[in-house]
Amino acid sequence: MRVAIIGFGAVGRGVAQVLVGSDHDFTLTAVADSRSACIDPDGLNPAEVLRRKETTGLCGTEGLGIPDILSMGEFDILIEVSPTNANGGEPALSTIRSVLGMGKHVVTSNKGPIACAFTELKALADQKGVILGYEATVAGAVPVMNGLRHGLAGNRIRSLHGILNGTCNYILTRMRDEGLTYHQALQEARDLGYAEADPTYDVKGIDTAIKLVIMANSLLGMNIALSDVEITGIDQITVEALNLAESEGSTIRLIGEIIPEKNLVRVSPRVISLDHPLVVDGTLNAISVCCDLAGPVTFIGRGAGSLPTASAILADLNSIRDCHGRGT
Ligand code: HSE
Repeated sequence: MRVAIIGFGAVGRGVAQVLVGSDHDFTLTAVADSRSACIDPDGLNPAEVLRRKETTGLCGTEGLGIPDILSMGEFDILIEVSPTNANGGEPALSTIRSVLGMGKHVVTSNKGPIACAFTELKALADQKGVILGYEATVAGAVPVMNGLRHGLAGNRIRSLHGILNGTCNYILTRMRDEGLTYHQALQEARDLGYAEADPTYDVKGIDTAIKLVIMANSLLGMNIALSDVEITGIDQITVEALNLAESEGSTIRLIGEIIPEKNLVRVSPRVISLDHPLVVDGTLNAISVCCDLAGPVTFIGRGAGSLPTASAILADLNSIRDCHGRGT
C-alpha cells in the first residue's frame, strides 16, 4: 500500500527509517515537513529522504507542501505525525478530516486532533469505510489502546492509573539517579527527541491529560474535554523532594488517573512506594487498569522516542493492510 508522511520530526523520521529496505508492504510516495515536501507516485527512497533532511534540514523542495500531497492523492494511507496542538488540534485536524473525507485511511501519533475531535473523526472514518489508527497517540510502543479494546474486550474498566509521559518520567528518573537539576534533565529529554515540540506540554502535565482524554473518550465510554481534567505538572519538583521521598522508600511520579464511575480524570505528581508496579524508569510508560473480570492488568514499555512511536504506527499500518490491503 502507498503511504504519505506529514511531519518529519523524530516520529516521521522513525517511520521512514522503518520503511528503509523491503521487509514490509508499504511504498512511500510523499513526505512533508514544515517547510518543504517531496512527492513521487512511483515511490521515494526513504533512505534518500532521510539523508536529505539530515544534510539540508529539508525533506524536499521548498514551495511544495501538504496541499500538493493531498491534491496529488497518490497514497492509500496518510501518516500524520506533525507536532500536537492541544488547543483545537489544527492544522492537523483539518488535514485528517480532508483525507478521511477522500476515503483514505489515516494513521496518526498526533494527539491534538484525536483528543479534540475523536467522535467526529471516527464517525467520518466509519461512514467512508476507512480506518483511523491512533495507537501511537498513547504510550508510544505500548499496545495499550489495542490491548484495552481487544485484549480486555468485555471487561468493565473500574479505574486506570498510568505513567503516560516519557519525558516527565525520564526527568524524574535522572534527577533521582544522577542528581541532575530539573532544567538539566529536561534539556537531555529534548536532545534525545522525547519531548514535545513545546515541552511545556510534557512538564505541565498537559500531554498526560490529553492521553487520558483520548483513552476516556475512545475506550471508556466517557465524553470529556481537556478542560475537564484536573492537571498539576512536575515543574515544581526538586531534587530535595525526590531525596526525601527516597529516604522513606518511595519516589515521585507523574500519575494520570481515570475513575469512570466518579467521572474523575486527574494528572498529578504522587509519592509512591518504590515497589509499586507503576514505578518504572526512564522513558518507560506503565498503565495499570482494574477490570471487573480480569482484575488488575499492567502494561509497560517505551512511551516516547522515534522508533518506539514508529512501532505503534507500523502496527496500525499492518492492521489496515490486513483488513484492506491484501491483493490491492
Ligand atoms: N512527549 C511525549 C512523551 C511523546 O514524552 O511521552 C510521546 O507521546
